[in-house]
Amino acid sequence: MGGKRIGILTSGGDCAGLNAALRAVVHRAIRNYGWKVFGIRDGSLGLMDRPLNYVEFDLGSVADDMLRRGGTILGTINKGDPFAYPMPDGSKKDRSQDFVDGYKELGIEALVVIGGDGSMRILNDLCRKGGIPKTIDNDVAHTDYAIGFATALNVAGEAMDRLAPTAASHHRIMILEVMGRDVGHIALNAGIAGGADVVLIPEIPYTLEGIAAKIAEVRAEGRNHALMVVAEGCKTASGDSVTKLQSGGEARYGGIGQYLAARLTDMVDAETRVTVLGHVQRGGMPAMRDRIIASAFGVYAADLIAQGKLGRMVAWQHGQVVDVPITDVAGITRAIDPYGTLAHTARGLGIYLGEL
Ligand code: F6P
Repeated sequence: MGGKRIGILTSGGDCAGLNAALRAVVHRAIRNYGWKVFGIRDGSLGLMDRPLNYVEFDLGSVADDMLRRGGTILGTINKGDPFAYPMPDGSKKDRSQDFVDGYKELGIEALVVIGGDGSMRILNDLCRKGGIPKTIDNDVAHTDYAIGFATALNVAGEAMDRLAPTAASHHRIMILEVMGRDVGHIALNAGIAGGADVVLIPEIPYTLEGIAAKIAEVRAEGRNHALMVVAEGCKTASGDSVTKLQSGGEARYGGIGQYLAARLTDMVDAETRVTVLGHVQRGGMPAMRDRIIASAFGVYAADLIAQGKLGRMVAWQHGQVVDVPITDVAGITRAIDPYGTLAHTARGLGIYLGEL
């Protein structure tokens, strides 16, 4: 068993808990199996760079403060698709051979990829590997939790706690715009935990009239302020996404909160303010739940490699770590079930959740 060499990388957008997962893999691999562990820098780029860009981990390099540290000490990129690598002139180049050559040059027998479904899909054909799901969006298929979601939810929930008293003091409607890409896991969970009156998620269509009716209902019940949580991926009334061009020319979701505020202010005759949480949801100290899930995932991911079970992703199902084929995960988005427990709970609490 000893003598095996494995690599590990973080890929795609960062989130809290990545370092805890790295730490767990390194502990298990070195303590239990006596392997050498190489951390690849900047996602897939570290294997495409020449010289290769990596660090060899030892137990001293994964001290306990790794558990507490946000981001990823290895660095990450979300534009590192080896099959369509973005070149400075704007073109895309197939650099998959560079990746494969780098993997061979490092002499590793397997790579642990900590990433979302995009990274799993992209790297699936290129090497022997195991996957650990991470993303604040929590949209990786076949796992109840991905690393980073718990921390993002805590941040969104805390924002609700802070918005509630100021909404009440000024008799305002507060709109909290949260991340989540095409799914509403952060929004729905934060809305329930934070006492929202309205939660809008991409999975369920809404109408402006429906929101206005809910605000009228809140007022009829004797309250003249309201809280709304809106997932960034929600569409406008005419079905368009609201996006912003970021530096580098890429569009990202952002602006649906302002869109709604502009329309609701007149419709419901109330002052409206918008808070966009943005990347605050990704950074900072990982929540305890993320540390625990990341640690469990890391230990199991090393165990899978020890058992020769490659091409599998660790997953959290019903309070246990299990493993599923990466091919079952790649390219699939785990969305909110509009008829599931959380949606039912929200409706039961009187939250306006759109109209099916
Ligand atoms: O997928 C994670 C995520 O934070 C999404 O919620 C968000 O839409 C996107 O990444 C933001 O991407 P970037 O960090 O490239 O702006």
